[in-house]
Amino acid sequence: MRSFRKNGQYCVRTYTRFRQFPARLPRINIFESLIYLSTVNLEPLNRERLRLIYSPRWTKPVLAMPGETVPMVLADSCPRDISVRVGDGVDSVALRMGECPPVKGTADFRGLNVRLPDDLAAGLYDLHLVSGTAPIASEPNCLWVVPEDRARITFAHISDLHVGNPRPSDREHRIDNLFRYLDCDVKPAFILNTGDLINRYIHTNGAKEILRPDIVCDHIHRAREIILRYRIPHFLTPGNHDVAFPYIYREWRRMMGGPWDKPNDDYAFSPGGMRFIGLDRSVMYDGDHQAYDNRLSAARHRWLRTELESLPANRPALIFCHYDYHGELKWYLQRYPVLKVCYGHTAKSCLDPEHADRDGGLCPYICQVFEWSANDGLRLCAKMKLADFETAHANAQT
Ligand SMILES: [Fe+2]
Repeated sequence: MRSFRKNGQYCVRTYTRFRQFPARLPRINIFESLIYLSTVNLEPLNRERLRLIYSPRWTKPVLAMPGETVPMVLADSCPRDISVRVGDGVDSVALRMGECPPVKGTADFRGLNVRLPDDLAAGLYDLHLVSGTAPIASEPNCLWVVPEDRARITFAHISDLHVGNPRPSDREHRIDNLFRYLDCDVKPAFILNTGDLINRYIHTNGAKEILRPDIVCDHIHRAREIILRYRIPHFLTPGNHDVAFPYIYREWRRMMGGPWDKPNDDYAFSPGGMRFIGLDRSVMYDGDHQAYDNRLSAARHRWLRTELESLPANRPALIFCHYDYHGELKWYLQRYPVLKVCYGHTAKSCLDPEHADRDGGLCPYICQVFEWSANDGLRLCAKMKLADFETAHANAQT
């Protein structure tokens, strides 16, 4: 599958002949793929200044060590006389500016390399763009400075927060309590969030009522606001509620960020002796609320296989995604050292019984905590439900 631009929109060309991989090829409906991607109008993102900072972003922080050079991707419309600062507004530190390499394949964005101070303490930081003396853009919680490759890490997996869901009535308080609990008690190195952060519909008299765009946008803002109250590195992959309609796509990208160079948000990172691979399992729906084809494209299969094949011998992987709708991960679980697949969406497992030991399905829970070390492997430490964080319960704990 290859993307191209036509009339200002990204489209996709699907090849009917594939090269060997995967063994069982995904069924791809050419016309549905064209319709889907032609609705995802990516090119005008820059012109309408949805963002000035496209990378790093708070939903996919960049990992760096003190003294390292950090690559950024900015909108090309960004002023040329900018400087970059790291940290809170008052206490921020100016970074040494490096090269501005062109971003491969597009004139809408440009690169900027910045060098971190050698004595920058470990932590999660904001980045600020300053033009002259005036701040013009900030990206919160997007730079994760790690002192070294840690041998033991604790991380949390959350999913299906569904901000905006009217039930339970104190849902947002519970979600806030969950984050406060993680921040104060668990202190995970980072959070994996497998999506369905918001709702695309609510149930009214037993029927699905599609939410108005302004309501969904409000939910996007509220979800972002809750999560950013806390300084925990947050790695988000969207689910089938999150970017469900074209008119939601733009606000999602503005508030949550997303890839600038491809239509999907697959990515990977290595904070310790483990490779974490996030797959974008968002689903686009038409006006009749019918889902467009959401199978992984051949290009995405190739990317995933390359990721897994390039793992060093002693480095296993963990895949996190909203759900494996079509059993497409089975092929990989049979061949590669994937320790766990963390997902949400429903309590029904999406893995085969033969891979039950890799099953990291979360529903009906809302959070699980893992500890990983090369010596002891991956260990599940705790699972929590949203009911564990109801306001009265949280008050009783404090
Ligand atoms: Fe879902």
